[in-house]
Amino acid sequence: MSFQWSDYSLDELRSHATQVFRQGGGSRPDVMLIEFNGHKAVLKDQAGADKWFALLVGPILNWRETKALKHLHEVQYVPQLLHTPSTRSFLMSYHESEQISHLQHISPDWPVFFERLESAIQAVHRAGVAHNDLRNPSNTLVTPQGEPVLVDLVACFCRGRAWNWPNHWLFTKFAQVDLSALTKLKTRFAPQLLHESDIQAEQIAGKTGMAIKGLGQKIRRLSRRLFTDQQK
Ligand SMILES: Nc1ncnc2c1ncn2[C@@H]1O[C@H](COP(=O)(O)OP(=O)(O)O)[C@@H](O)[C@H]1O
Ligand SMILES: [Mg+2]
Repeated sequence: MSFQWSDYSLDELRSHATQVFRQGGGSRPDVMLIEFNGHKAVLKDQAGADKWFALLVGPILNWRETKALKHLHEVQYVPQLLHTPSTRSFLMSYHESEQISHLQHISPDWPVFFERLESAIQAVHRAGVAHNDLRNPSNTLVTPQGEPVLVDLVACFCRGRAWNWPNHWLFTKFAQVDLSALTKLKTRFAPQLLHESDIQAEQIAGKTGMAIKGLGQKIRRLSRRLFTDQQK
């Protein structure tokens, strides 16, 4: 019989963890490598967060991220959703890689890498999703072949239906934020590739945008205070 991830329960999957990428706690999930007879996948489990956060916010975050991955199933350089073993966890394809900010053994050809990264971000946008957390470099991975992998879509924003103009307007702003993250990464890792037309964060938001950004941060801080043991 052929191998299927969906044949395994969450407990069975967790008991086959061979590496922990992120130990959960506070408002953070467990992210771990799972191996079964040579098959590899990454489990992201919100149950690793503090109890109340995991219970109340975990299913929402898991729903957001799996929904985005479903929208992006044909987009290259984004992990494939493999299985949802519980309302708080999902399993995705594993990509051997290093975080762009912690490269040790991989030295990409930066012009090629950034070309691929830009086309990956544009493909994500064409599929109707803005990533929204690419300014954090731990969400851009680099494979030994110098290809990008975009992970962590929990903060994504979907374009929504055609009649929903406010949503569309917000989507264009968030899509530009993704492109400003590309500028930020270039500035840090390959400044020789910067171009005048690259989008800078300050150009995007105006007063409304900054207010929205501030509101998002306040909501995040509040939910952390309410549902986790962390005070800040
Ligand atoms: N599909 C994947 N393949 C390989 N490594 C991954 C994958 N998904 C996540 N990782 C690793 O786990 C880390 C944390 O995952 P992420 O989804 O960003 O969790 P968090 O929401 O806690 O930031 C990433 O920075 C990356 O190093
Ligand atoms: Mg992350």
